[in-house]
Amino acid sequence: MSELDFTVRGESGPALLLVHGFPLDRRIWEGVTAKIPPSVRLVLPDLRGHGKSALPPGPCTIDDYARDLLGLMDKLAVQKFFVAGHSMGGYIVFALHRIAPDRIAGGALVSSRALPDNEDGRKTREAVAQRAEKEGPGFLAGTMPDKAVGNAPPPRVLDTLRTVIRGAQAKGVAAASRAMASRPDASPQLSRIAFPTVVFAGRGDKIIPPAESEAMAKAIPGAKLVWCENSGHVPMLEEPDLVARELASFVTRTP
Ligand code: MLT
Repeated sequence: MSELDFTVRGESGPALLLVHGFPLDRRIWEGVTAKIPPSVRLVLPDLRGHGKSALPPGPCTIDDYARDLLGLMDKLAVQKFFVAGHSMGGYIVFALHRIAPDRIAGGALVSSRALPDNEDGRKTREAVAQRAEKEGPGFLAGTMPDKAVGNAPPPRVLDTLRTVIRGAQAKGVAAASRAMASRPDASPQLSRIAFPTVVFAGRGDKIIPPAESEAMAKAIPGAKLVWCENSGHVPMLEEPDLVARELASFVTRTP
């Protein structure tokens, strides 16, 4: 288990853990957190090897990220919590469901998917990992942001993505790329998810096909699907008001 750098807002109320995706850090939630009422306690970690959190030596798996988060919630003495995971963060929500389903009060999957990588996808992940190790993650700042946004991103979204990605840790990016490549298929879990779930899908997502998010939502009992009509892959940056409103109502109305 790895110690994480994190921010907490609030001391009481239902806890909502916000998990960023690849190769990002907790800053991507800033526009959303500002709009979630103070009655919700927010926990924002940087995953190991991302943002300000160190990467322990050796490879890691998606389950390791989940165990780090459980350790963080233990440290904060929070037994049961809501969790929202963006993309790779959603893969970690599935890992939490495998490891400690009873600790989850409700889960939000933002622009994420249950299916694992195919063979080609795994090869690309390894190429990304090797390139990040060799030359740093800067090349991703050139390729990923344009792919991550929809057709008309609000001003500053591309800049935010470029800034965050340029500052990413090379070894953390490589480890995450390999962790995603080795993640299991979460599809068999979907029908067994017993906690309330909300799925956010960007209508213009070019990284995870929206139809896949839609199918995933249908496979989770009782899941609510929220379409982000003006988003690509990063609705927390492209439509922060909508994401904040839906998350706040999810957390405050779930018994
Ligand atoms: C992410 O946004 O976390 C990644 O694009 C997920 C992925 O590459 O599968």
